[in-house]
Amino acid sequence: MALREQIDRITKLAEADATGDVVAHRELLEEVHKLQLSIETPFDTTARFRFQPLQNIVVLVALENGILPYVAKRNGETVTSSEIAKATSVDQLLPERLMRMNTWIGYADEVGENTYAANDTTKLVCTPGMTAGERHHTELFYPIGANITSLMRTQGFHQFAEDGLKDPFEHAFGCTLWDFFAINEEHKTGFDLYMAARRPASQKAWFEVYPAAQKLAEMPALKEGGVVLVDVGGGHGHEVAGFKKAFPDIVGKMVLQDLPATLESAKLPKGIETMVHDFFQPQPVKGARIYYLRQVMHDWMDSKCNTILQYLVAAMDKNSRLLIDDYVMPVTGAEFRPIHMDIAMMLYCRAIERTRTQWAALLESVGLEIVEVFTPENGFESVIEAKLAA
Ligand SMILES: C[S@@+](CC[C@H](N)C(=O)[O-])C[C@H]1O[C@@H](n2cnc3c(N)ncnc32)[C@H](O)[C@@H]1O
Repeated sequence: MALREQIDRITKLAEADATGDVVAHRELLEEVHKLQLSIETPFDTTARFRFQPLQNIVVLVALENGILPYVAKRNGETVTSSEIAKATSVDQLLPERLMRMNTWIGYADEVGENTYAANDTTKLVCTPGMTAGERHHTELFYPIGANITSLMRTQGFHQFAEDGLKDPFEHAFGCTLWDFFAINEEHKTGFDLYMAARRPASQKAWFEVYPAAQKLAEMPALKEGGVVLVDVGGGHGHEVAGFKKAFPDIVGKMVLQDLPATLESAKLPKGIETMVHDFFQPQPVKGARIYYLRQVMHDWMDSKCNTILQYLVAAMDKNSRLLIDDYVMPVTGAEFRPIHMDIAMMLYCRAIERTRTQWAALLESVGLEIVEVFTPENGFESVIEAKLAA
């Protein structure tokens, strides 16, 4: 597409975006990305890319030293480097150098010489969940990158490492991601915070993307003591808690399952039962209406998902629904989030974000069939509804 046409298309999309059109917003981001690529020379593109890791490092240094948090605390008032230096006890030159980059990447605004102001991104990144997210990915991606060549030269690159082969995380850290969480309490606490916070408040909840109220109303009434929802590998339980809040009068028990270390720090509203459960063991809750798995399947390769699913299938009855809340990777034109998450899953835990065909094959392999796939307009994670195959 000629540059002029690209700009015209961007102008139209920007007008629609300004009216709150979420689809236009998505397309606009992709078009702006393509526009930048068409303007850049190959030298521009490769230089931008090679130096990009510095941005993540600078953000961590500015967060840990209280520089971005101080700018955020001033809530949009202008802040000078000397004020930041005084408030955070750092040399004045440090905020000047770090804020040059932080403002360039949009993490705050530069409003004059050595003078800054918080914007909405500054405020967001300084919330505990998002700060934890910055740390989580930067601290894990960089050792993986630093060791990836030696991994390839010693054992080759295997997307789904098995039979004693290491995945890139294991090669860099000496243990799997899950073992790392088990021994690194500070990181695990941050990860749980990040998991609970990473979806924007404007994002539809899974039980809106999936018409949960209507679907449950269509099912036969639950028996006394029956379970309406099991959140399997549900982390701190933010999704089951959101469901409970949205449907306070719904009939049936709600259960949050996860490993002990995760459940210990979960704070749940009354009426939600917590249950330590390893999903590689038989599912103890039988005949629940909904077994919900959010960003669990994408952590595991097919052979492991197969085991998790077989235990769920053994617990399901004909009225049970399995809901998988994960990306459905488009076959063409994939966008920023699923592309990046797919590679993160490959490097962290030999796993994958699946296409619809891959999901269908996985589910069919354990005797499940897809009823419908519900995808939100903003293209985030879909809710895949599956039931026991007829
Ligand atoms: C990516 S997190 C997703 C958490 C939550 N569903 C969410 O979307 O925020 C994966 C979750 O799986 C849990 N998990 C990992 N291995 C598990 C196992 N063997 N049994 C049960 N839960 C497990 C982790 O503790 C973590 O809470």
